[in-house]
Amino acid sequence: MRLRKKIEKKEIDFSRLPTHIAFIMDGNGRWAKKRGMPRTFGHKIGAESLEVVIRHARKLGIKVVSFFAFSTENWNRPKDEVDEIFRIARNLIISKKESFLKSNMRLMVIGEREKLPEDLQKEIIDCEEVTKNNTGLIINIALNYGGRSEIIGAINKLLADGVKSIDEKGFKNYLQTRDIPDPDLVIRTSGEQRLSNFMMYECAYSELYFPKTHWPDFREKELEDAIIEFQSRDRRFGAIKG
Ligand code: FPP
Repeated sequence: MRLRKKIEKKEIDFSRLPTHIAFIMDGNGRWAKKRGMPRTFGHKIGAESLEVVIRHARKLGIKVVSFFAFSTENWNRPKDEVDEIFRIARNLIISKKESFLKSNMRLMVIGEREKLPEDLQKEIIDCEEVTKNNTGLIINIALNYGGRSEIIGAINKLLADGVKSIDEKGFKNYLQTRDIPDPDLVIRTSGEQRLSNFMMYECAYSELYFPKTHWPDFREKELEDAIIEFQSRDRRFGAIKG
């Protein structure tokens, strides 16, 4: 008897898409090193992946995408590398503003923004302002962001407002992510299996996915694979299966 292997091609179920996908873009340095290139080259190509992922997420019908671009700990990197990441961020915001507008996309930036270079802060404010009424894909970029710092910031605001007690819904309003739903899926590339202080409060019930791919190689197919994997998970939010 001849055994025939049935190869099942899994496809995305568009009726069960994750609403919000968050990306921890890891592996730029290793990707560049493997090619004998400087780490900053990895960030440059990583920025291309970010653009590809935004375009494809929009096409698939995802509502919110978040990207961890610079953590509060990343200041410990060589100054040249830090400057280059900010330069890439600024260029990206300037060059994509028109296309965000045309495609009904909205930019928002979370993190301790007041410590970012002033020219970058200015471009962020401008792009957020001109895209604020757009109703399509929300692009949330975390720059100089730390999850614990976001929570502490929220608590300090609560104290300043004289709030004596609060529930989860009320607390959400004090977070920088107040306007967006919590991530359904968190993707960290390059095989590391940590959240590294990324949206600690918001990711309480997110599905986590850790592909081995380095971020500069994360493109359309990798995004689709992640969504298919997400759809194979059994999300119970602490309940039992009915
Ligand atoms: C992590 O890889 C990547 C970063 C800390 C920077 C991510 C920045 C970009 C993709 C640039 C484009 C986007 C914006 C908006 C600035 P790593 O350097 O830690 O890689 P490694 O773990 O291999 O060293």
